[in-house]
Amino acid sequence: MAALTFLGIESSCDDSAAAVVRADENGVAEVMASVVEGQTSLHAAFGGVVPEIAARAHAERLDYCVDRALSEAGLSLHNIDGIAVTSGPGLIGGVLSGVMLAKGLAAGAKRPLWGVNHLAGHALTPRLTDGLPFPYLMLLVSGGHCQFLIVEGVDRFRRLGGTIDDAPGEAFDKVAKLLGLAQPGGPVVEREAADGNPARFTFPRPLLDRPGCDLSFSGLKTALLRARDALVAEKCGITVQDRRDICAGFQAAVTDVLAEKTHRALAIYLEQRPLVPALAVAGGVAANKTIRARLETVCGENGVRFVAPPLRLCTDNAAMIAWAGIEQARAGMPSGIDLVARPRWPLDAQAAPMIGSGKKGAKA
Ligand code: KG4
Ligand code: ZN
Repeated sequence: MAALTFLGIESSCDDSAAAVVRADENGVAEVMASVVEGQTSLHAAFGGVVPEIAARAHAERLDYCVDRALSEAGLSLHNIDGIAVTSGPGLIGGVLSGVMLAKGLAAGAKRPLWGVNHLAGHALTPRLTDGLPFPYLMLLVSGGHCQFLIVEGVDRFRRLGGTIDDAPGEAFDKVAKLLGLAQPGGPVVEREAADGNPARFTFPRPLLDRPGCDLSFSGLKTALLRARDALVAEKCGITVQDRRDICAGFQAAVTDVLAEKTHRALAIYLEQRPLVPALAVAGGVAANKTIRARLETVCGENGVRFVAPPLRLCTDNAAMIAWAGIEQARAGMPSGIDLVARPRWPLDAQAAPMIGSGKKGAKA
C-alpha cells in the first residue's frame, strides 16, 4: 500500500484540535503533530458545555490549530494526501465549524476530503497505537460517551450496549459538583477516593439485575445526594473523611458496574472466536486507575488482551480523526465536498437508538 499523510480536524465538543498522521507502506502509523486547544475555562461558569460558545471558539481557533499542526509536522497543505474532519455526531455548531474549514482547505489546496464519525475515530484508535486486528471489543467511557462496540471493520461496528442516561464521566463530574469539588470531577473524585473507605456507603449498582450490556449512572448520583443530605441533616455538614468515603463508595459502584458489563460484553464478543482477542478502552474515564486495573483483571480472567492507548489519544483529539480518514481512504470509502454535518450519527445503525442527551451534547 502507498504511504499516506493526512490532516485531521476535530471540533465536535469542547476541544478544537488538528493533527497530522502519516502511515507508511506497511501501515505503521506515526502521529507527526497533535494540537488540542481545550475550552474548559470558557464553559466553567455554566456547569456544562454551552453549544454557542463552543461553536464560536472553534471558529476562532481551528485555523490556528491547523497552522500549528502543519508547522510542528514540518509540512504544508501541499504535502498532505487527504483531509479528514469529524462530520458528526456532536454539537452541531462545532461540527459545522470544522466541516466548513475542512471544505475550504480541501477546495483551496485541491486535496480530497473525508468525513469521519467521531466515535469511529475513538473506536479505530487502538489500530493507530497498537495495530490491533479486527475484530476487537471497544469500551468508550468518557464525559459524553459510554458504549460497548465490537469493531469488525473500518465501517463495521456492532453495539452491544450503552448508557441509557448519563455517561460515567458525566456522573463523576456531577458527583464532584454535589460535594463542592472542582471540575472536571473525575480526577478530583479519584484523588479523594484514594483516602476513602469504599465499604462505608453502599451505593446501588444500576441495571446489574437486568440482562444485557446497557448501563445507567444517573440513579447513582441521586443515591449519593441522599447520603450527603442525610449526613448534613445529622451533623450540619460533612467532614473531609465523609467526602472521601462517599467518593470511594461511588467509584466502587461505577467500577463494579463497568466490570460486570465488560464480562458480559466479552462473552458475546468471544463467541466470534477472534484470533487475537482484545478489549480496548477510550475516553477520559479510562484514566481512572481503579477502573483501569479492574478492567485489566476482567480481561485477564477471560484470556483477553487489554489495550489502553496513551491518554492524549484516548481523550478527544484530531490524530484519531486523521487516522480514521487514512483507514477509510484505504478501504475505498470516499467522501466529497458535499459532505454534511450530522448532530446524530450512530455507528451501528441496526442497534436500538440510545436515549437522552448528555452534558456534552447528543449521545449516539
Ligand atoms: O474523553 P474526555 O476527555 O472528553 C469527552 O467526554 O469527550 O473525557 C472527559 C471525562 C470527564 O467527565 C472527566 O471527569 C472524566 O472524563 N475523567 C475521569 C478521570 N479523568 C477524566 N473520570 C474518572 N476518573 C478519572 N481519573
Ligand atoms: Zn469523544
